[in-house]
Amino acid sequence: MLEIKNLHVEIEGKEILKGVNLKLEKGKVHALMGPNGSGKSTLANVVMGHPKYTITKGEILLDGQSINELSPDERAKKGLFLSFQYPSEVDGATISTFLRQALNSSRKARGEEPISVLDFHNLLKEKLRLLNTEESFAERYLNQGFSGGEKKKSEILQLAILNPGIAILDETDSGTDIDALKVIADNINKVMGENKIVLIITHYKRILEHVKPDKLSILINGKIALEGNAELVDQLEEKGYGWIEED
Ligand SMILES: Nc1ncnc2c1ncn2[C@@H]1O[C@H](COP(=O)(O)OP(=O)(O)O)[C@@H](O)[C@H]1O
Ligand SMILES: [Mg+2]
Repeated sequence: MLEIKNLHVEIEGKEILKGVNLKLEKGKVHALMGPNGSGKSTLANVVMGHPKYTITKGEILLDGQSINELSPDERAKKGLFLSFQYPSEVDGATISTFLRQALNSSRKARGEEPISVLDFHNLLKEKLRLLNTEESFAERYLNQGFSGGEKKKSEILQLAILNPGIAILDETDSGTDIDALKVIADNINKVMGENKIVLIITHYKRILEHVKPDKLSILINGKIALEGNAELVDQLEEKGYGWIEED
């Protein structure tokens, strides 16, 4: 379980998160919604250990142990995964090459040997099949000329290959692309096995029509203002965020 307790976070002296409490349980899909600028991406980045943010108070606990002081590498080793972990354009790397490097660096962090070329090839083939994707997709250069949906596909493929325990998917950049949302929605349950923690961050309810979250939390002005289940999504669509009281 990932538990965030009374988390206060600053960037450049400005307080962005003002006491966030959030519990993410294994085997459940969680969604985090909230208006622009409420601190959703900040929360994702802080959980991953981005050095730009300062935790001034509170704890991030993974299975009861604080990870506040761990480096991003050490967190990745514990199974944390954030989408868009690679630069938007990586010169000269095919998806296949990139994924093998990403897998080997996570294996190295866990003290494991690199995967053999043959084993990797088989793993990649299996995951491409799972995602109904032609094998030629993996030989394309990463992100070059990709549509929103193809970017998402490569991201989901990365998720499938790395198989992390905790996935945080921050949907900000692709929010307007319905194809991209559909790729995520169709595949998130497929690639994440049992006992995984999934947090989908979005301000569009469309993805939540496909992936029914077990729990939905609303972040407003750096605090969780309301929690509920999938039905809350409809209320938000109807009434926006204005009716939810900040305390
Ligand atoms: N690198 C940064 N420098 C200064 N302010 C930032 C930075 N990143 C985010 N902020 C501010 O933090 C607040 C929350 O941003 P963000 O976490 O991106 O919100 P959301 O993802 O919910 O739209 C905003 O007011 C934003 O201007
Ligand atoms: Mg954001």
